[in-house]
Amino acid sequence: MTEEPRHGLARGATSYGDQDFALYMRRGFAKSMGYSTGMLKKPVVGIVNTSSGFNNCHRHFPELAEAVKRGVLAAGGLPIDFPTISLCEPFIAPCTMYYRNLMAMETEEMIRAQPMDAVVMMGGCDKSVPAQIMAAASARVPAVELIGGPMMSGKYEGERLTACTDCRRFWANFRAGRIDRAKIDAVEGKLATTAGSCGVMGTASTMACVAEALGMTLPGTATIPAVHADRLRAAEATGALAMELARTRLTPERIITARSVENTLRVLMAIGGSTNAVIHLAAIAGRLGLKVDLKRLNALSDSTPVLVNLKPTGEHYMEDFFAAGGLGAVLRELKPLLHLDCVDVTGRTLEQRLADEPAFVDRAVVRAFAQPFQPEGGIVALFGSLAPRGAILKRSAADPRLFEGEGRAFVFTSLADMAARVDRPDLEVRPDDILVLQNAGPKSGSGMPEAGYLPIPGKLAKAGVKDMVRISDARMSGTAYGTIVLHVTPEAAVGGPLALVQTGDRIRLSVKERRLDLLVEEREIERRRASLKPAAPGPARGYDRLYMEHVLQADEGVDFDFLR
Ligand code: FES
Repeated sequence: MTEEPRHGLARGATSYGDQDFALYMRRGFAKSMGYSTGMLKKPVVGIVNTSSGFNNCHRHFPELAEAVKRGVLAAGGLPIDFPTISLCEPFIAPCTMYYRNLMAMETEEMIRAQPMDAVVMMGGCDKSVPAQIMAAASARVPAVELIGGPMMSGKYEGERLTACTDCRRFWANFRAGRIDRAKIDAVEGKLATTAGSCGVMGTASTMACVAEALGMTLPGTATIPAVHADRLRAAEATGALAMELARTRLTPERIITARSVENTLRVLMAIGGSTNAVIHLAAIAGRLGLKVDLKRLNALSDSTPVLVNLKPTGEHYMEDFFAAGGLGAVLRELKPLLHLDCVDVTGRTLEQRLADEPAFVDRAVVRAFAQPFQPEGGIVALFGSLAPRGAILKRSAADPRLFEGEGRAFVFTSLADMAARVDRPDLEVRPDDILVLQNAGPKSGSGMPEAGYLPIPGKLAKAGVKDMVRISDARMSGTAYGTIVLHVTPEAAVGGPLALVQTGDRIRLSVKERRLDLLVEEREIERRRASLKPAAPGPARGYDRLYMEHVLQADEGVDFDFLR
């Protein structure tokens, strides 16, 4: 029988009952691509290449993949890249979240099905990084995430701007009649002018930092701009690191632990990161039998200040964060709060990493722990009769004047209802109302889009109203801002209390008490519950059916039940 070591191309050959023949066949077909016998004996590093004509954020990935290959080859391995699903926010309907689990499944299966000793996963745009880490956590193959990096900011009429916090600001001004059509059209061509993900602390940048905080990237690489030469050097070094992983067999479940997840939640608070990260982190943790407890999240939030002064919470851009010292500078400030024994993909502990790194920091962007940008963490979880299993508020991007109090609910029953009515001049909405959007959660049929940033109704926007309390079971883009309560769980589509709210009801919000309550008598609640229409039959076939039958709620990461 064969003496072949079970590595490289010899991994997982199809069983015909004759392993020698299976390997002979595989090598024969591999040779049709021009590989020599010597190359085919080397360890194989797979490279998940999510380059796509429908993904502007990844438009530099062909060049980046070449740099990864250089690193693998120099370290004595055979790099082989392969495509997977690529998800880019503006191009996917109903929304990228709907397909995150599909991408995670495909990536996991292709990592497992194809012969590789380690894998480099190239991701950038919002859902790609969590999908890939979910995949790696389940595939249990040595893996390292290579972040694509943020885009650079540009200028329009002397003003610095980039996607996508500035997109929202300009659009809000256009809706309110403060800028004209010619100007909004001109700005459209200046928002995203280089390769890379959105240039603020949106979901993509947050997930890049989450990946590094978990230990799944080469340390120090999360914030490097997409078009910076350091990004290519990071890719080359990541290729070399993958070869080291092929040797050490350090797999993701030894890196992603309860302690590294807790470190990551602290980092999420300190960077003023996206609310989406709470869902993605719950999904990643869930793959390894771990849980993101929202009550624990509140305790971490209360004891972790916001240190990074970046849009949408502050004023700077990702390229400034990189130049200011990047995530390492944040980790150094948080050091007394972190579990320093966690290891990253290099096999070193966090303590070793922090001891080795240069200590430069620009305090305009990354504040000292003792002089934080904001005294408490960016995100809090709320509980109460309207959200028995929790809801999320990004307090760092919200208006504190709206944090405590009661208001009249003004309800949109669906995304379609909101689109049809929100700008009607006769809409009977008042500036101190609480806007409620129902049926935009995981099982709503819309895939939990980033619709939680409900537009200020047209007539109020024109009257100068800039913020209102807005509540939904949807998500919100990490680049958005406002007093916005998201991820209400259970969602309306499964009969959660959100489904029972009617215009005119009173709702009480208290960020101080972490409460969100519907002030309607229990008897009336039960009457409304009894008259709820039964859900329409689900989709008959395909991914839509799989999704609807198996998707979980926000507190479980919106993963599929059979993947946890
Ligand atoms: Fe890709 Fe914003 S659209 S990160």
